[in-house]
Amino acid sequence: MAERIISSQSVPDDTKLETSLRPRSLDDFIGQAKIKDNLAVTMVAARARKEALDHVLLYGPPGLGKTTLAYIIAHGMEVNIRITSGPAIERPGDLAAILTGLQPHDVLFIDEIHRLGRTVEEILYPAMEDFALDIVIGKGPGAKSLRLKLPPFTLIGATTRYAMLSSPLRDRFGSIYRLDFYTDEDIEAILRRSAEILGVQADQAGLREIACRARGTPRVANRLLKRVRDYAQVRGRGVIDCEIARVALGRLEVDAVGLDNIDHQLLKAIIEKFSGGPVGLETLAAAISEDTDTIMDIYEPYLMQLGFLERTPRGRVATRRAYDHLGLKYPKSRLAAEGESPQAPLL
Ligand SMILES: Nc1ncnc2c1ncn2[C@@H]1O[C@H](COP(=O)(O)OP(=O)(O)OP(=O)(O)O)[C@@H](O)[C@H]1O
Ligand SMILES: [Mg+2]
Repeated sequence: MAERIISSQSVPDDTKLETSLRPRSLDDFIGQAKIKDNLAVTMVAARARKEALDHVLLYGPPGLGKTTLAYIIAHGMEVNIRITSGPAIERPGDLAAILTGLQPHDVLFIDEIHRLGRTVEEILYPAMEDFALDIVIGKGPGAKSLRLKLPPFTLIGATTRYAMLSSPLRDRFGSIYRLDFYTDEDIEAILRRSAEILGVQADQAGLREIACRARGTPRVANRLLKRVRDYAQVRGRGVIDCEIARVALGRLEVDAVGLDNIDHQLLKAIIEKFSGGPVGLETLAAAISEDTDTIMDIYEPYLMQLGFLERTPRGRVATRRAYDHLGLKYPKSRLAAEGESPQAPLL
């Protein structure tokens, strides 16, 4: 896949930037007010009881702050954080080693937790529930099971695919939070904070222009800010204003609502090759040479958020908004099928 400026996935180039811009406390964490409130309460309560915080599951599209929240929780609880990911834990023994190495109340962060192997996942059940590790010694009829005590700890799981988690695993989390795309106002506030940290001069209109093209995603916002800053430095007077932001983002081929060429290709494929849909995910993926996971995790959540795409039981459908955005005429046959008159205003 070609590198996309508006990709919500992390790329190696982001790492340094993200570390410097990552909020360290809940107060610095902008938006997601409900999650912040609930987390703050559970954290204060756990600390008052001198207990480990209950296990937390964070899910939502990439780049919205799951990893950031895990760090904030560990920092707020004044404990260490151990970071790993589903695919990195290959055998049950790997997880057992990590668990026995934890200090009381430590945070274990497992990213992409939906990708844990089945046998590894089974180790987690007693670990989460009873802080215990069940070990089987020997094989066959003579095998014995041994239970080891673990220090109380907090598991923080992160996933972009809530539906792929098994229900026994889901049930063992004390709190489950869904991160949503940020509002443009929140993204603007995040950009203001980032600009300050980076020492970038930007006026409100400039930041707003970047915000509305950042796909409601902090990671994308910060990346666009960096690119617009470069442009302002080379072609402007170093200050990001509306005009500079607009030109710079236009050159990066990010449109007014944050879509790039690949989003356009995807929508156009549905509209032009499959008469607007419904079209099955596999077929669509083949038509634009992308894999189904990338389409599901990366492209679709934002297109659905904009109301440009719908997932129906029979497949993906491009909405009237998508036609309008691309400047394409909405077919009369579809209007008729929806029981609308052609003059009906767009809702
Ligand atoms: N609420 C926020 N306020 C300010 N900055 C934020 C916020 N959320 C995320 N960020 C910024 O966005 C970057 C990406 O966030 P983070 O790495 O936590 O996303 P993620 O949800 O873990 O993504 P992935 O699914 O790819 O792992 C962070 O480095 C941080 O700078
Ligand atoms: Mg992450």
